[in-house]
Amino acid sequence: METIQIFDTTLRDGEQAPGYAMNLDEKVRMALQLETLGVDIMEAGFAAASEGDFASVKAIADVVKTSTVCSLARALEKDIVRSSEAIKGAARSRIHTFIATSDLHLKYKLHISRTDCLKQIRQAVACARKYCEDVEFSAEDASRTNVDFLCRAYETAIAAGATVINIPDTVGYSTPEEFGAIVSSVMNRVKGIEKVTVSTHCHDDLGLAVANSFAGIRAGARQVECTICAIGERAGNAALEEIVMGLCTRKDIYGGLATRIRTEEIARTAHLLSTITGVRIAPGKAIVGRNAFVHESGIHQHGVLSKAETYEIMTPESVGIKQTELVLGKHSGQHALETRLKDLGYDLDSKGLAEVFAAFKALADRKKQITNRDLAALAESRVAAKNSSAKEWKLDSFVVNSGNHMSATAQITLVKGKKRVQEAAIGSGPIYAAFRAVEKIIRHRFILEDYRIEAVTERRDALGEVMVKISDSKGTYRGRGVSTDVIEGSILALLVAVNRMLEAKK
Ligand code: KIV
Ligand code: ZN
Repeated sequence: METIQIFDTTLRDGEQAPGYAMNLDEKVRMALQLETLGVDIMEAGFAAASEGDFASVKAIADVVKTSTVCSLARALEKDIVRSSEAIKGAARSRIHTFIATSDLHLKYKLHISRTDCLKQIRQAVACARKYCEDVEFSAEDASRTNVDFLCRAYETAIAAGATVINIPDTVGYSTPEEFGAIVSSVMNRVKGIEKVTVSTHCHDDLGLAVANSFAGIRAGARQVECTICAIGERAGNAALEEIVMGLCTRKDIYGGLATRIRTEEIARTAHLLSTITGVRIAPGKAIVGRNAFVHESGIHQHGVLSKAETYEIMTPESVGIKQTELVLGKHSGQHALETRLKDLGYDLDSKGLAEVFAAFKALADRKKQITNRDLAALAESRVAAKNSSAKEWKLDSFVVNSGNHMSATAQITLVKGKKRVQEAAIGSGPIYAAFRAVEKIIRHRFILEDYRIEAVTERRDALGEVMVKISDSKGTYRGRGVSTDVIEGSILALLVAVNRMLEAKK
């Protein structure tokens, strides 16, 4: 059986999407889960982009043991050297260097000739090989590059020592037929191609990233670049979970090809990303959306009950979604809670477990049945509290007053390390008043871009999950908060976003 290498770029291309920024701890947490998922290569970041990027690539390289850790670098010596420094500690490492090859990019972006471009490819790949045995070369905008020149670019990279040749559809312009033909041309015409792995990197601007990746596989590509939940620049990249489950489910077409992905970890990985970034997974998202395995109509329900295959082409369990969920309640003990948390992927120490157990008991007093999603929300709050530093603002207390014949008022007390600050504000509603009070305390103005609240579970006594998106002149920041009190949940979500904004300001 041949293997398709899964190259995950959630932490680089994915993180480049607006609102998906993660801090160092969050990236390391995500990287460890990607390793558990079994990705062959993870692109940990773009080490030369900033000090923060360098630090996170390095931190990931230092902890990840089984996946290859890769850093992106422009085809410039200074980027390549920086990448090599960041990945030095990795058990397996790769430098991924790129330069655009389309005439459009050469003329209007790089202002160089094709000859200069080939020279830069030769120098960059040779330079990268001095630091790392595994060197990937990408021809940015490959799908809009003259095919003859594209083949020359790849030949140059292979001659200089590249071990992987990546074919990006950078702007998501290609169609499956066309992209398959480009990969075939590269496979058939490039000298030395048999010595390297050919890779695809497809963007989703026309909604074709996964279809194009499969066309690339059929034409001979043996590495696919993709991200969890398709996050990435603009409309995103090819979705890892769709490629992997496509290969598993359609063995009739892709029979001889397998991946090393532990598919039962897929749902957990997608949910971790959503929790960390504060971006909800769309209910209809293939494989990992809430509705992906829900059968609403009577005819479908009847069919699935008689034989699951009537309407299910893969089992929910195969992607890590447990169908039968035993509900915990106020009489459940700490051991039952611990077992369930482990099933959900939270291996807490005894202090953490005691804290989540206390929160669980308090919630069970207000809510009859505690579901997995409630428990995940409680465990995440604990993880967030543990990871938060003394330099971050935390909620101490709040009082909010509102009514239909009065302005809402909010009095909020926040703490940061030993500092405790209280402010009051009025607003047209309680959330607005609370957010104004926070803004006064942190002394930094922001724009509220988006605010959403959803019940974690279906019943009246559900936990409320609040997603907040704010922006300032430097960027966009998201936060997520969970509480049975929607105002508390809103303040907690805002504080996550605010702390990210203040960290980015440094
Ligand atoms: O989309 C693209 O071309 C890229 C390259 C850097 C591989 O992300
Ligand atoms: Zn890309």
